Formats: sequence, C-alpha cells, structure tokens
Amino acid sequence: MTPDELKLAVAKAAVDYVVPKLESDSIIGIGTGSTANYFIDLLAEHKGKFEGAVSSSKASTERLEKHGIPVYGLNGVEVLGFYIDGADESNHKLQLIKGGGGALTREKIVAACSEVFVCIADESKWVETLGKFPLPVEVIPMARAYVQTEIKRLGGKPVYRHGFVTDNGNEILDVHDLDIQNAIELEKQLNQITGVVTNGLFAARPADILFLGTQKGVEVKKA
Ligand code: 5RP
Repeated sequence: MTPDELKLAVAKAAVDYVVPKLESDSIIGIGTGSTANYFIDLLAEHKGKFEGAVSSSKASTERLEKHGIPVYGLNGVEVLGFYIDGADESNHKLQLIKGGGGALTREKIVAACSEVFVCIADESKWVETLGKFPLPVEVIPMARAYVQTEIKRLGGKPVYRHGFVTDNGNEILDVHDLDIQNAIELEKQLNQITGVVTNGLFAARPADILFLGTQKGVEVKKA
C-alpha cells in the first residue's frame, strides 16, 4: 500500500470508531494535514449524525465548510468528546511530535480540551525515540533570535521556516538534532522560553488511541 492508501485506511478506522459514539448534538475536534483531510472527507458522509466540528486550522475549517459541516468556535463549546488528528511522530506512549503543517498551537489547544484524542498515522510515523522529525516551535516573531539562542542551549539546532506564517500570525522554528528521552520535561522547558507560543511535543497530553496504518493492516495502539 502507498502512504496515501495507509492514511485513507486509518481515517476509515477512525470514522468507524468515532461515528457510532456520536449523538445529534456532538461536536468533534478536527486536526490538520493530509491524514486529517481523509478523515474530514469520510466524516462528511455522516453529516446529520452530529452537530458540527471545532477546527484546528483555517485550512481544515475551509475543508469542513466545503462539505457543509458547521464549524464552531471553541469558546462556545461545552463538551468535546473526540479530537481526531494526524502526527509527524509517535512513540509507544503515544507521545507525539506534531506541527509539520504549522498548526501545532491550535491543535494542542483542541487536544487539551477533548475527552479522547484519536491519532491517525501511517507506519512511517512510528518511532522508538522522538526527535528524528525536526520539532516545530511556534514563536512570536520579535523573539525569534532570542528563542533560537535558548534552544541551542538545550542542545537543539533551530532552523527558521522561511516564508511561513502560522494562522496566529507567528513564525516557526524547526528544531533538529534532538534525542528526546524525556518528552514531558522537554515540552515544559521549551514552553518556558519567553517568546515561545508552544512547541510540537504532545507529551503532557498524549493521544489516547492511535490507529497506525501498516502493510499488514490497521493496528490499534493504546498508551
Ligand atoms: C499539522 C500536523 C499534522 O498532523 C502532521 O504534520 C501530520 O501531517 P500528515 O497527516 O499530512 O502527515 O501536526 O500541524
């Protein structure tokens, strides 16, 4: 199977897992990226079985609305039962690196608010140790140079993502050469640097369930 076929397979598995649990007033959190896009497209076939979605990016909002799925602001939503999103890396604790698409901050906010975080990913994302994928860090533009210096002190090699502006009007540093043994601690340390909006480690709030697309079929992983 190609990577796209694996992404489609896990999106289907997530739809089969989530949709039967939805009620007519349910609101679902939706992530960003190519795997999340497959999920959105399949979810659209179940319009009417739930009320709508909260989205983690402008791109996903646009896609949901094209399908006629109502998108709500997070502040007006009382209960978010499920959040469905892809990842750039996952370890066996379902701690993730996210933000390859630059939507990490809104993704982390929606994940934090959700009762169940369902991650969907193809097998290339499954790793022993997080950090081969450069860790995205969203920064306030005026703080970029300062944050770069502080990240170097922590042993990382920050690379400015030229020409990219997040949905929040900020910039991204992609941090290379990290060997992440304690993801929860590093997530905290990075967030304490003044000027960092958030970083792409999802360790304090990992996924609850991962549908991993492999050549042998979709594997279900729990932390
Ligand atoms: C976007 C993300 C994505 O979930 C991550 O980059 C995976 O993307 P894809 O499903 O296209 O492989 O974190 O900010």
